[in-house]
Amino acid sequence: MKFFIDTANLEQIKEANELGVLDGVTTNPSLMAKEGIKGQEAILNHYVTICNLVNGPVSAEVISTDFNGMVKEGEKLAALHKNIVVKVPMIKDGVKAIKWFTQNNIKTNCTLVFSAAQALLAAKAGATMVSPFIGRVDDGNWDGIQLIEQIRLIYDNYGFNTEILAASIRTSLHIVRCAEAGADIATCPLPSI
Ligand code: G3P
Repeated sequence: MKFFIDTANLEQIKEANELGVLDGVTTNPSLMAKEGIKGQEAILNHYVTICNLVNGPVSAEVISTDFNGMVKEGEKLAALHKNIVVKVPMIKDGVKAIKWFTQNNIKTNCTLVFSAAQALLAAKAGATMVSPFIGRVDDGNWDGIQLIEQIRLIYDNYGFNTEILAASIRTSLHIVRCAEAGADIATCPLPSI
């Protein structure tokens, strides 16, 4: 199982990296804002800094919600560094954009996944990774771990090589249960590692 850190905080990224068990980083616009990183240039520079700290995939999220906007942003992000994975939301145009990125050899992380049907759609479009938000599924009184089990079964049934990146992890028990359920990756803030 791979461990990613879910933050844009450079100190926490360094600390997790020094543990020697860090495989990658996930970020999102709210995590960037939390660090006070504002404006396009600062955000792009911050991604490059993270890529230079960690030898592994770094998810950088698009903000647009229309196909053309996502493609334009994603191309720019992917050109920053070879480790960038373009994070695309699970919405109709997002699926279309993931397909486009796949055909153009750009890696993607399909985010905001809350159901097995959405995970199946993301894999069909060729997503490199899919991010089920297990904590938020639990918040809605559903079972986030069961969602990971369902996705694992579906991907294995059809040989999809999309990696299951368990996100919205809140506890170390979540990580262990995700490992049991066959998630390929767990991403969480430093205190959960
Ligand atoms: O990776 C998704 C994460 O940033 C959201 O986590 O705990 O706010 O649901 P949470």
